[in-house]
Amino acid sequence: MSSNESATTESMLQESRRFPPPAAFAEQAHIKSPEEYAALHKRSVEDPDAFWAEVAAELHWFDKWDRVLEWNLPDAKWFVNGKTNLCFNCIDRHIEAGHGDKVALVWEGEVPKDDGSFEIERYTYNDLKREVSTFANVLKARGVKKGDVVTIYMGMVPQLAIAMLACARIGAPHSIIFGGFSAQAICDRVEDGQSEIIITCDGSWRRGKPVPLKQNVDDALKMTDRVKNVIVYRRCNNDVQMQAGRDHWWHELDKDASDDCPAEPMDSEDLLFILYTSGSTGKPKGIMHTTAGYMVHTYLTSKLTFDLKPDDPDEMYWCTADIGWITGHSYIIYGILANRVPTLMYEGGPNFPAEDRFWDVIERQKVTKFYTAPTAIRTFMKWGDSHVEKHDLSSLKVLGTVGEPINPEAWMWYHRVIGKENCPIVDTWWQTETGGHMLTPLPGATTTTPGSCCKPMIGIDAAVVNSEGEEVGTNEGGILVIRKPWPSMLRGIYGDRERFIDTYWSKVEGMYCPADGARVDEDGNFWITGRIDDVILVAGHNIGTMEVESALVSHDAVAEAAVVGFPHDVKGNGVAAFVILRGAIPQGDEADALKKALTKHVRGELGPIGQPDQIRFTEALPKTRSGKIMRRLLRDIAAGNEIKQDTTTLEDRTIVDKLVAQGG
Ligand code: WTA
Repeated sequence: MSSNESATTESMLQESRRFPPPAAFAEQAHIKSPEEYAALHKRSVEDPDAFWAEVAAELHWFDKWDRVLEWNLPDAKWFVNGKTNLCFNCIDRHIEAGHGDKVALVWEGEVPKDDGSFEIERYTYNDLKREVSTFANVLKARGVKKGDVVTIYMGMVPQLAIAMLACARIGAPHSIIFGGFSAQAICDRVEDGQSEIIITCDGSWRRGKPVPLKQNVDDALKMTDRVKNVIVYRRCNNDVQMQAGRDHWWHELDKDASDDCPAEPMDSEDLLFILYTSGSTGKPKGIMHTTAGYMVHTYLTSKLTFDLKPDDPDEMYWCTADIGWITGHSYIIYGILANRVPTLMYEGGPNFPAEDRFWDVIERQKVTKFYTAPTAIRTFMKWGDSHVEKHDLSSLKVLGTVGEPINPEAWMWYHRVIGKENCPIVDTWWQTETGGHMLTPLPGATTTTPGSCCKPMIGIDAAVVNSEGEEVGTNEGGILVIRKPWPSMLRGIYGDRERFIDTYWSKVEGMYCPADGARVDEDGNFWITGRIDDVILVAGHNIGTMEVESALVSHDAVAEAAVVGFPHDVKGNGVAAFVILRGAIPQGDEADALKKALTKHVRGELGPIGQPDQIRFTEALPKTRSGKIMRRLLRDIAAGNEIKQDTTTLEDRTIVDKLVAQGG
C-alpha cells in the first residue's frame, strides 16, 4: 500500500458523520429498515437457492430451471437448464403485461439544434421491440448466428442500445468497445473474440466535435482481416470511406428488413456478452457473462439499490456512464429495462454546450434516480456551485456513485449541493467481473457514512480476510473477498482458463478475490482502501500499469519504462511514467517535445485514459539489488512525497535524487 493510500485510510478512520435514510423515503422503499435488510440478507446467504428462485420467478422463462445452482469452484451454473431471453425480459414481457406504449428509453443528443433546443427521442416498449427486431433480422441477414461474437463500437446513440438488445434477442454475444478506445484496442478485441462483424457509427459527438469512429475501425481492420462485415450508423455526417462488399449503411440494411423476430430461447448459461477490462498484465481480459444469472442479479440490484418503482409515472432513471463500460451494460440497459423503468441515455460530454449540462438535463427530464462517478463529482465541485444553483433539481430522490472510492468531501458536496440533504447516496462497489452491485447502501434501509460503500448486497457474502482466508478484526486492513457464488459472477476470461483461475481464485483459497483492499468498521460498514494489484483507477476506469509500459516501450525512443499511479485531484489517480531512453536524455524544449510525442504515442495505442500525466526521463530505474523495480519508491516520487523509506537496498541511490529533482 502506498503512503498515500494509508493517508486516505487515516482520514476515513476519523469519519463519524452518519446519514440515516429520510423517514419519508424509507416508508415507501422496497427495503424499509436496517432490520429488514439484515433479515433478508441473512436468509439470502443462508438459503440462496430459495432466495434466488423467488427473484427469478419475477421474470419470464420459456422453460423453468431444474436446479438453482451447481457450484464446482470456480465454475458456477445458475438456473440450470432454464430457458430465457434477456431482451424478451427487457421488452416483450412488459408489452405482454399491457405496457407497450409506456416510455422505455429516452435519449438526448449532445449538440443543440439551430433553435438552441436539443434532439430528444422517446422509445416506448413497442418502438423498441420493432427497432430491435428489425435490426436483429439485419444481423441474421449478414450471417450472424447464435453464439457468434458481434463487436460494437459506437457512440451513445439509441442504436447502440438497439444493437445490443438485438444481439441478446438472437443469442449473439456482444463485445462492446468503448468509443474512446483506439484502433489497436479494436484490433486486439476483434482478434481475441474472433469476431467477424463490427457495428459502428460514422462518428460520435464529443464536445461538439465528431470522434471519427469509422476511421478508427478502418485503421484497425488494416491490422486484421478477420472482419467480413461492418455496419455503419450515420450520426455525424462526417466523411467516411465505405469499402464495397464489407461496409454497409445501417439505414440501407434496416429499410428492407422485417420487424418480426421472435426472441430466441437461450439456455441460462449461454454466453450473453464479453466485455474487456484491464488487468495486471498487458493484455485486457475478456470477461464472460452468461444469460440468466446476469439477468436475475442486475434485475434485483437495480430494483433495490435505486429503489426503482415501475408504477410511479414520475420515475426517470439516469446513469451518466458510457454503455462501453459494465456500468452502462448493467445499469443503463439490462437491469433498468428489466425493471420497466424509463432509462435516460445522454450522448455527450458534461460541459457541452456549458458546464451546467447535467443539471439542465435533470431539470428538464425530471430525473428521479441519478448515477454517476466520483471523478465527475469532483469535476463539478471544481466548476462551482453556481452551475447547479441555476437549476431545479427537486425531482431527484436517490443519488448513486460508482467506479472508485469516493472521498468524503466529494460525498458531502453531492449530498448537500445536488441532493439538498434529502437524497440517500448509494456508493456502489462492484466490478466488470461481478456483473452487478456487490457492496452498497440500500437507500431506504442503510445509514450511510461518507466514503464507505457500506453493506453487502442482498445475496452477497462479502468479508475482509488475510491471505489465509481468516477474517481480520474491526478496522484492520485486509483483502476483500466474496465467499459464496452469486448469479452474475463472471464465468471466465474468454479463451484463457488459466488466467481466470490465477487472477481471481488463487490468492485466497476457495474465495473470489477482486484485488481490492478493504476494512470493515465497528458498524459493519465496508471501506475500500485501493487496488492490491497493478491496476490504476484513472477517472474510475481501470488501466493496467503493464499496458502503459508496453505502449511506451513500443516507441522507438524508449528502452524501458515503469508506470505507477499517483493521487490526482479530479481523476482520483493519474499515470506517472519513468522512462529510460535508447539514446541520451534530451534537455529543455527537446525533452518537452519527446514527452509530448510519447504521450501522443500512448494515446494512439490505448486511448486517452492510459496517457501519462507525468513523464520523467531517467538513466536507470531504482531497483533492489535483486533487480526488482521499487514501485513504492516510484509512487512516492510521483506523488511528490518526502522519501522516508529505507533506500539502502537500492543499487544506486543517486537515481532517486535525480528523479526527485526532475519533477513531473
Ligand atoms: C473500483 C466498475 C471503491 C474497485 C463498476 C473495483 C470502487 C474496480 C467502487 C472495478 C466503489 C468500483 N468504491 N472502489 N464504489 N466501484 N471500484 O471493472 O477497485 O470498471 O475493483 O467496474 O473499480 O472497476 P470496473
